[in-house]
Amino acid sequence: MTVLTNKNSTITGKHTSYWIDSTLPTDYPILPENLTVDVAIVGAGIVGITAATLLKKAGKTVALIDSEKIVQGTSGKTTAKITALHRLIYNDLIENFDVETARIYGEANQAAIEQVANLVTEEQIDCDFRRCNAYTFARYTDSIDKIHAEVQAAQKAYLPASFVTNTELPFSVAGAIKLPNQARFHVRKYLLNLAHKIPGNGSYVIENTRVKEVNHSDPCQVVSDRGFIKAQDVIVATNLPILDQGLFFAKAYPKRSYLIGAKVDKSIAPQEMYIGTGKDDHSIRSTPLDDGGTLLIVGGQGHKVGEKQDTEECYRKLENYARNEFKIENIDYRWSTQDMVSMDKLPYIGKLTPTSEHIYVATGFSLWGMSKGTLSGMILSDLILGRNNPWAATFDATRATPFVSKTSIKENFDVATHWFGDRLKGFTDNSFDKVKPNEGKILNLDNQKVAAYRDENNQVHAVSAVCPHLGCVVSWNNGEKSWDCPCHGSRFSCDGELLRGPAVKDLKAYDA
Ligand SMILES: Cc1cc2nc3c(=O)[nH]c(=O)nc-3n(C[C@H](O)[C@H](O)[C@H](O)COP(=O)(O)OP(=O)(O)OC[C@H]3O[C@@H](n4cnc5c(N)ncnc54)[C@H](O)[C@@H]3O)c2cc1C
Ligand code: FES
Repeated sequence: MTVLTNKNSTITGKHTSYWIDSTLPTDYPILPENLTVDVAIVGAGIVGITAATLLKKAGKTVALIDSEKIVQGTSGKTTAKITALHRLIYNDLIENFDVETARIYGEANQAAIEQVANLVTEEQIDCDFRRCNAYTFARYTDSIDKIHAEVQAAQKAYLPASFVTNTELPFSVAGAIKLPNQARFHVRKYLLNLAHKIPGNGSYVIENTRVKEVNHSDPCQVVSDRGFIKAQDVIVATNLPILDQGLFFAKAYPKRSYLIGAKVDKSIAPQEMYIGTGKDDHSIRSTPLDDGGTLLIVGGQGHKVGEKQDTEECYRKLENYARNEFKIENIDYRWSTQDMVSMDKLPYIGKLTPTSEHIYVATGFSLWGMSKGTLSGMILSDLILGRNNPWAATFDATRATPFVSKTSIKENFDVATHWFGDRLKGFTDNSFDKVKPNEGKILNLDNQKVAAYRDENNQVHAVSAVCPHLGCVVSWNNGEKSWDCPCHGSRFSCDGELLRGPAVKDLKAYDA
């Protein structure tokens, strides 16, 4: 399968997530005053909202606090498949751990699907939730052995997986693993409905309030740019924890991926959920539109954050793939987002450090956080409520991570290369004249590394290129017009404004 792209062709589609575009914006208050609650939850994505919902249902008062509007982070830009079939995972878990770990992984993710289904029913949420099968397909024979191995491994993990060769895709496949009774939904319709029920009786949803630190006092103190929250327990659900103590930035790495949406005739839209492995590794699903139509969603072109500067090329390739395979004429949406990939393939869910009794985290979902984010809400609420949880020990965030695994050595070597190499690198361009319109470049000006972007109106935006998290040099992302940090995934606007952590500060102004 060759995807040809013309570098100069214009990328099309509204540049926003369909899930965000098809729901009303939220309008929760900023932190009004210093508050005291039982549990403060930092970050209102699927982890934070699920945990807040379960804790409030159990009688706790909660404050759910986000630096932006809620569900605008990774959870607002996902593909929103809820499944325990995570491309290829069970064979790796058996090889790297054992059958029991693979069994627990499968059981926990299946339980998370049922948790979503139960909340949809209990709360009567109209969110296009629909049961369907999930498939991982090998389009060509080069990766068919992996599919066979994964079917066997999933069966050993007690999942009802089977090998098939027929799918409803518009191309033939060499083979696929099928896992029945999984689910898909409209993620924002689901999460916004849950969030709507949180405020009241001593609980709050707070937007546009950035948390800077969490102090381990008794009670804990959450310090934000607008005031304090005192809480017995704190969940840091910021995708990658903003707190560095647990070293999660060294146990997971950020990966960015791309999606496009096209309005199509229902007859050509697959009703089940697909992801490829091998040479065709695209992700495919559809979703109903409110006007009765159907949106086909195709994802792919993933890479480590900061690794590619011409990210518009990723959209072009995706668009060409969708046009070729599904005979689509118009692309209606395009968006992209990033998630943290765990070095040992298991998510980190639990205490921040072995000694932090009341601060909890969840990260490392490896682009499968609809089930694992829900699972995090289940496990963390159980830990806080003192309930036994059958899966908590396996995903314990303080477990010893094999820092010597092949993946972690490579990823941490890459980070070290960026930290040392990029700082010492002789960025030779030393004038704003070197930056063309619509281009971002690192310049060496007055012995400072400067991130300079020249916009379409020829205006230069210049800020310090040094990431305020741990000091790596940022990299330009032309598809999103942002400065992205290749080390741990922080992102900034062209004027240096913080778009996503783990950093909690803007890029410094360029001091000319
Ligand atoms: C392209 C792509 C497609 C994907 N598709 C799927 C899929 O089909 N199925 C699946 O299971 N998973 C999928 N995933 C993964 C899944 O979307 C994520 O794992 C999940 O959404 C992560 O949820 P979260 O709650 O950890 O993070 P987020 O949703 O990012 O929430 C974190 C929140 O914390 C807030 N925050 C950050 N810093 C602060 C601060 N200092 N103070 C206050 N608030 C702060 C942010 O604003 C944000 O709202 C996909 C991922 C990608 C990248
Ligand atoms: S995100 Fe860690 S150094 Fe930039």
